[in-house]
Amino acid sequence: MSEPLPIFLACLPGLEPALAAEARALGLPEPRVTAGGVDTMGSWPDIWRANIALRGASRVLVRIGSFRALHLAQLDKRSRKFAWGEYLRPDVPLRVEAHCTRSRIYHQKAAAQRVERAISDTLGAPVLAEADLRLMVRIEDDLVTLSLDTSGEGLHKRGYKLATGKAPLRETMAALFLSQMGFDGSQPVLDPMCGSGTFVIEAAEIATGLAPGRTRPFAFELLATYDPKVSAALRQQEPRMGPLQFFGYDRDQGAIQNSIRNADRAGVAHCTRFACQPISALSRPDTEPGLIMVNPPYGARLGNAKLLYALYGTLGERLRTEFKGWRVGLVTSERKLAHATGLPLTPGPLIPHGSLKIQLFQSAPL
Ligand SMILES: C[S@@+](CC[C@H](N)C(=O)[O-])C[C@H]1O[C@@H](n2cnc3c(N)ncnc32)[C@H](O)[C@@H]1O
Repeated sequence: MSEPLPIFLACLPGLEPALAAEARALGLPEPRVTAGGVDTMGSWPDIWRANIALRGASRVLVRIGSFRALHLAQLDKRSRKFAWGEYLRPDVPLRVEAHCTRSRIYHQKAAAQRVERAISDTLGAPVLAEADLRLMVRIEDDLVTLSLDTSGEGLHKRGYKLATGKAPLRETMAALFLSQMGFDGSQPVLDPMCGSGTFVIEAAEIATGLAPGRTRPFAFELLATYDPKVSAALRQQEPRMGPLQFFGYDRDQGAIQNSIRNADRAGVAHCTRFACQPISALSRPDTEPGLIMVNPPYGARLGNAKLLYALYGTLGERLRTEFKGWRVGLVTSERKLAHATGLPLTPGPLIPHGSLKIQLFQSAPL
């Protein structure tokens, strides 16, 4: 196998330490937290494994080379000398994106065009704006770095969710929030406002031992380095049939139908249960204490402020009364709404989510 390559695991800012812990648990060497992700090293099978198995990474980039270029003619010359055939296939279209910072080459479009032309002239690979494969050219302080996006579609797309509600959480985010709560697959998880079922299905997949990318396609399959046999072996799963201990409720019947369909497609129907029920009717299931993971409506996205305070108040009251010994992980964009639950909650880092910033508020056992 080839020399290890530098790998960048991208994630949302604020979630880097949780992703580094996950990368370490997967056996990736010395994961280092940087802004917006985690740096590590690995072989191509490590890159495939990272894509297939990591729950919290939003994409996996691999650095395939770097050289200095002070002007476009130099970029052109050095790009023509690069061994593209080691990574790219002449029959697979790709697109090139360039970003320039603090460099004498400042025209991004011209930089991308030079690299595109070098690839099509020397290797013959077609360059298409809508290609699934993406080469990223970053020019910083006159140093050109070439990276391939080995994921393609963002890794939050697990492949099972066809149906979502109004404001779904990203699966990658839900997975990292579960990990910040110390979830290891053994505790029951209940989401009383589950929407499309993201927390419940993510938790059930972890408990069942199902890799998040077991069925979806990846951009790494389009590269010259791809070995379908090794990659297929990495996707092989031995699901564990655990007890029914993942519960989702929502007052919206459509949301519950979506959750049931999503759980079915994800292969976790055996250990999940969804029911249409308002928060005011919430009661404790017949299990050991576990985690309440909840992402109620918030702020500018959904609903009206007065009703929201009342809703958070009811949520806090139901949890205090019914869920002795359970821990709460509440995700919201507004600290005041979290306080309206009356629960003793500690805020985590701010995470960008659309136009808002959200936080995980954690409680000790109630
Ligand atoms: C922000 S969404 C949750 C999204 C979910 N985390 C997902 O990934 O799809 C909030 C959910 O709370 C539900 N909801 C609002 N008021 C409720 C109530 N009183 N009882 C139960 N569910 C409620 C809404 O129907 C909506 O699905």
